[in-house]
Amino acid sequence: MKQEPQHLRYSSKKISSFAKPVLYFLCLLLAYSLGYLSSSTRNNNKSPDHINTVVAHVNTVINRATTELGGDHSDFGAVCGEAVPQQHIRRKILERVFKGTSPWENFPPSHVESLLRKKWIKGWGSNGAVFENLIRKVRPKTIIEVGTFLGASALHMFELTRRLGLYDTQIVCIDDFRGWPGFSDHLRMKDMKMVNGDVLLMYQFMQNVMQANATESVVYTPFSSGSALEKLCEWGVFGELIEVDAAHDFHSAWSDINRAFKLLKPGLEGGVIFGHDYFTAADNRGVRRAVNLFARAHNLTVQVDGQHWVFYISNRL
Ligand SMILES: C[S@@+](CC[C@H](N)C(=O)[O-])C[C@H]1O[C@@H](n2cnc3c(N)ncnc32)[C@H](O)[C@@H]1O
Ligand SMILES: *[C@@H]1O[C@H](CO)[C@@H](O)[C@H](O)[C@H]1NC(C)=O
Ligand SMILES: *[C@@H]1O[C@H](CO)[C@@H](O)[C@H](O)[C@H]1NC(C)=O
Repeated sequence: MKQEPQHLRYSSKKISSFAKPVLYFLCLLLAYSLGYLSSSTRNNNKSPDHINTVVAHVNTVINRATTELGGDHSDFGAVCGEAVPQQHIRRKILERVFKGTSPWENFPPSHVESLLRKKWIKGWGSNGAVFENLIRKVRPKTIIEVGTFLGASALHMFELTRRLGLYDTQIVCIDDFRGWPGFSDHLRMKDMKMVNGDVLLMYQFMQNVMQANATESVVYTPFSSGSALEKLCEWGVFGELIEVDAAHDFHSAWSDINRAFKLLKPGLEGGVIFGHDYFTAADNRGVRRAVNLFARAHNLTVQVDGQHWVFYISNRL
């Protein structure tokens, strides 16, 4: 066994003899505060003063966070451009993203043709009742979806608009079509092919849209949610129904929700922004915290529909 040098042994001994009472004190403090905190939730016999102190402290922390949200944490870029008329939204995106032509022209390209399946759709809660509830309620002319993957929820919404007679509704999808690192290890994805590191999500999504005869109703922006949402804002592309379902960590969800909120049509009455993973295993990765914080910062009420969170915006300035 390696011998510790004399000077280190000396100093560590010195620290430990110094640290003992400090540690002891810290343990006592910890035990006291744990007991104090848990007992304030378990029994109501604690002095109201103690409980009020805890509540006041929590409120101070939240208020500080909310106040700070007035600054950089809530600053997501410039004021949006003037609204593009709804019937021109598709053309606007084709012009700005695809040099004016439909990406489905000459689809599929030969290098991926043999690797795609005729139709291959996987999603998460993509057919939940929330979609029909909201589309019936809002009857949106433009739907914006942040996080599309293979198009399961987007195509479900497309079918709903058809069924409800909303033939002109345009669905704008945003996804970088990268999934996440190693996503194809997932059992359900293990058959996804890859070409030089390209995971082919975009092509399989396009194939699915084509199979659903939805290439005129669905358009997409294959970039990161931050840059795509920023550009839609700049171009004046707004919607009445916006779904957020991209990355699920707090910071991504917070930024997506803030940016997506700006795309609710100004002057709109009865718009909705909603998203997945308020009530699933991903809760604690941050979606719920981001949604709750946003609600506080904007004085909104979080409504819940299945696994989804929903904000009804009655009066968007
Ligand atoms: C849970 S899936 C979306 C599922 C889809 N809404 C459905 O129900 O079928 C999340 C998607 O978000 C995309 N994504 C994650 N982070 C992103 C980012 N920063 N920018 C753009 N897309 C992102 C991933 O590529 C993935 O396709
Ligand atoms: C798409 O259109 C073709 C040709 O009109 C039709 O045969 C097919 O059934 C349609 N598919 C769907 C899913 O509606
Ligand atoms: C927040 O909303 C409630 C009702 O939803 C309203 O009574 C209250 O005045 C609002 N507060 C602010 C600061 O806007």
